[in-house]
Amino acid sequence: MTASTASPLPTVNRQFTLAARPVGMPKESDFRLVEAPIPALANGQILLRTLFLSVDPYMRGRMTGVRTYADPVDIGQLMVGGTVGKVVQSTNPQFRAGDIFAGYWGWQEYAVSDGKGLQKLDASVAPVSTALGVLGMPGMTAYFGLLEICQPKPGETVVVSGAGGAVGSLVGQIAKIKGCRAVGIAGTDDKVAWLTGEMGFDAAFNYKTTQDYVAKLKELCPSGIDCYFDNVGGAVTDAVLPVLNVRSRISISGQISQYNATKPEPGVRPYIYLLSKQSRAEGFIITQFMNRFPEGIAQMAQWLKEGKLKHREQIVEGFENAPRALIGVLSGDNTGKMLVKFSEA
Ligand SMILES: NC(=O)c1ccc[n+]([C@@H]2O[C@H](COP(=O)([O-])OP(=O)(O)OC[C@H]3O[C@@H](n4cnc5c(N)ncnc54)[C@H](OP(=O)(O)O)[C@@H]3O)[C@@H](O)[C@H]2O)c1
Repeated sequence: MTASTASPLPTVNRQFTLAARPVGMPKESDFRLVEAPIPALANGQILLRTLFLSVDPYMRGRMTGVRTYADPVDIGQLMVGGTVGKVVQSTNPQFRAGDIFAGYWGWQEYAVSDGKGLQKLDASVAPVSTALGVLGMPGMTAYFGLLEICQPKPGETVVVSGAGGAVGSLVGQIAKIKGCRAVGIAGTDDKVAWLTGEMGFDAAFNYKTTQDYVAKLKELCPSGIDCYFDNVGGAVTDAVLPVLNVRSRISISGQISQYNATKPEPGVRPYIYLLSKQSRAEGFIITQFMNRFPEGIAQMAQWLKEGKLKHREQIVEGFENAPRALIGVLSGDNTGKMLVKFSEA
């Protein structure tokens, strides 16, 4: 058995469980901070101390009692989530104390694991937090969701909603790498300035201060829209439909404008636009591309190294602030990837 330090091993774990199913926007009281004993390790097990927790919009869906493409979190159950952590104790010769891994052990400070499904990280290649962002699930969502579903061609116009976030900010940059015009839609002037500045988008607008989305899209997309990467749905997506070009493609990544809805929101009927423009709209869940992640991560890492791709992390310090971080993502508080950094990280 190995342990990383001479300091005594922890015996108490802190976890966030689901206390109540939210109605509308989640509240901090929908989560409960609980303490649980850390069991002694059985043979072959390891103890991980969490360094970073990924905070993602899909977590809102898990808090409802409805099964969609994944099981919901039950009341009293540990909140699910992607994590990065360090091995602090090991009875498994394949895992050494001090090694860092990415996994999916949820909202807790410590996790006991048999090592299955863990991805070893090398901090000398990239900061380990990137395994939850640009080199992790959100990065792969941008990469495969744009390149496989939309198949953008040089010279085409790509519009992305939710552009100031983890996925959207990468989508526009990948579109630029592929020789497209990239236009972003985001919820603050600062995000718009960041997108057209550091992120290299050709144009962007603030959907919260723009009155006529269709007119704005026509102004910013003078040749029409060939690809639309939809992160938000709702009124923003309704406005994209009349500006689509013939044989345009829509990648349906997310519908965050609807995640807190308490009743279905009426919208335009999209099929008439898809019909008249001979367009294709296709939803995807990123796990369908799981077996191609090594290829996507290698390409994104290469673009990062070459300076063609940039990313930003918004770090919330302290595990106890995880509920606030999730509410923040659903409220638009983040620019780039939202992460919770644990006090020991
Ligand atoms: N299909 C998949 O497998 C897959 C995988 C990962 C993520 N996704 C989806 O991709 C989308 C982006 O995820 P992410 O992790 O990159 O999150 P993110 O964009 O970093 O954070 C969410 C952003 O959504 C925006 N937003 C919140 N409420 C909104 C509303 N009512 N209307 C429009 N925008 C709103 C906010 O920015 P503003 O300031 O712009 O409002 C917020 O910052 C989400 O819909 C998520 O569910 C899908």
